[in-house]
Amino acid sequence: MLAAPWDDGAAAKQLFVLVTGANSGIGLGIGQRMIDEFAAEHPTASEHLILITTTRSAAKSKVTTDLLREYLQLRENAAATNRNAIHSSRIHFASLELDLCNLPSVYAAAERLRSSPLSIYTGAETNAASSPHKIPRLDSVIFNAGIGGWTGIGWGNLATNVLYDGIQQATTFPTCKASTGGLLVDPLTGKEVKHADDTKAVGDNDGVLGQVFCANIFGHYVFAHALLPLLHGTDGKKSSAIGPGPARIIWESSVEAEGWHNLSLDDFQAVRTIAAYESSKRLTDVLALTAGLKSVAPYSASFYKDDSSDEKSSDSTIVPATYVTHPGVVCSTLFPLNWFLFALYNLAMYISRWLGSPWHPVTAYKGAAAAVWVALRPTAALDALDGQHVKWGTGTTRGGTTLVKRSEVEGWGFRGLVGEETTAPTIDSVTGKAWQEGGDPLVASFPYPAYLLNSRGRKSGAANLTAERRQEFEVLGRDCWREMERLRVEWEQRVNKLKESQ
Ligand SMILES: NC(=O)c1ccc[n+]([C@@H]2O[C@H](COP(=O)([O-])OP(=O)(O)OC[C@H]3O[C@@H](n4cnc5c(N)ncnc54)[C@H](OP(=O)(O)O)[C@@H]3O)[C@@H](O)[C@H]2O)c1
Repeated sequence: MLAAPWDDGAAAKQLFVLVTGANSGIGLGIGQRMIDEFAAEHPTASEHLILITTTRSAAKSKVTTDLLREYLQLRENAAATNRNAIHSSRIHFASLELDLCNLPSVYAAAERLRSSPLSIYTGAETNAASSPHKIPRLDSVIFNAGIGGWTGIGWGNLATNVLYDGIQQATTFPTCKASTGGLLVDPLTGKEVKHADDTKAVGDNDGVLGQVFCANIFGHYVFAHALLPLLHGTDGKKSSAIGPGPARIIWESSVEAEGWHNLSLDDFQAVRTIAAYESSKRLTDVLALTAGLKSVAPYSASFYKDDSSDEKSSDSTIVPATYVTHPGVVCSTLFPLNWFLFALYNLAMYISRWLGSPWHPVTAYKGAAAAVWVALRPTAALDALDGQHVKWGTGTTRGGTTLVKRSEVEGWGFRGLVGEETTAPTIDSVTGKAWQEGGDPLVASFPYPAYLLNSRGRKSGAANLTAERRQEFEVLGRDCWREMERLRVEWEQRVNKLKESQ
């Protein structure tokens, strides 16, 4: 096989990033922002970014790659005007199909990534042909794809929400999204199944899964496990490395999935609730934030075990670092609105930002900031911030400058610490030191202390973390990991059985 176009430099000079749901909204924003931030942070011609996107069809994959290459061309032209150079021939693209609600498609995509050459497009020239190359690893996988499962706006709830909570709270933690609930999918075909009987939870033998649960979390979860052979990471200790050391699984959650009420173990796949989306995001937070806890390890260990590796090999357990991020509030097609309501929605989001909400990036490009930031930071810098124990949210200043800040999760607080200070205006909410004395390393990246304060953008009525709640969260994490592993094993067997019968 031909040498890969990134092989002119050492492995440590290559960064392989995969983004799901990259054909629209925040996923496309992540692709664009990744190009910009990678080029800015790694400016030399021998440093390579290999950006692999997933979409639900070959046609969408082609359009996505074309759009990203056109974007690269624009950035290159702009950089040339400023006498900079992006060296676009070190940016490479590939795209493949993945339907998270169709588990055979999920396994097929993972198999393709592990074993087959991908069509790699290099640089910005949209007419240039691709060449086939296998990828050696994935440094970060960004699990962005998702659905809302909503039908529209509950106008009565909207009015109450705005009147009682004010516009900033209502546009950040809305209670007005209407949904029928009960959405199901047959994950062996990816086909929607008729609505669930709302008196019945999804049982073991139904052969269906909650659709929002499957699209937003379970499909990704299964995908991550199947990708373990590629998630072995690099030697991030080398100072020259741009590869991040341990590989990273980066989940896209939501600012509004902060509360206990969002997730019930009795309705784990959220088919008997009209808040399936919020449930899937709460589950994302719980799984990601508890992934590294000792008490949870016995339940998550099988997830991190590479099934393709020799049973006895000590290398068969691969523990990528898990992070959780959210994009703030972005006007995208996630919420179904006609053009007129979409315009009003857009305006309301900007008003919220101008009134001081830190959680309104509004555009997909800005909303992409937290996921890209986590993917590009050196491991040591993230560790200094206790990065795996924080839900990293995208924020902006009133003027629209993007920043990344800690987000609150009920039962976990801002980073799992009981008694964090959240109100003092000049004190680091984590260490208690003054910002100026190097209290919060985040300030070095985003010098807007007032916006970085945990108290800014907090849900009204939020309670500080107590030891009891923290303990409850950990127990919830354990139960959720156990159920996810049970489902993963069960559905893997069903997919294998289907394959054998074909
Ligand atoms: N917008 C916000 O304010 C906001 C806030 C918090 C969190 N988020 C999260 O950000 C992520 C992206 O949302 P967005 O606002 O950018 O929405 P979006 O524009 O609707 O994009 C969603 C993406 O997910 C893909 N997708 C949906 N179902 C899929 C499936 N079964 N398999 C594979 N891909 C699938 C879509 O593909 P198709 O084009 O083929 O449908 C699309 O590419 C989601 O996880 C969302 O929950 C968004």
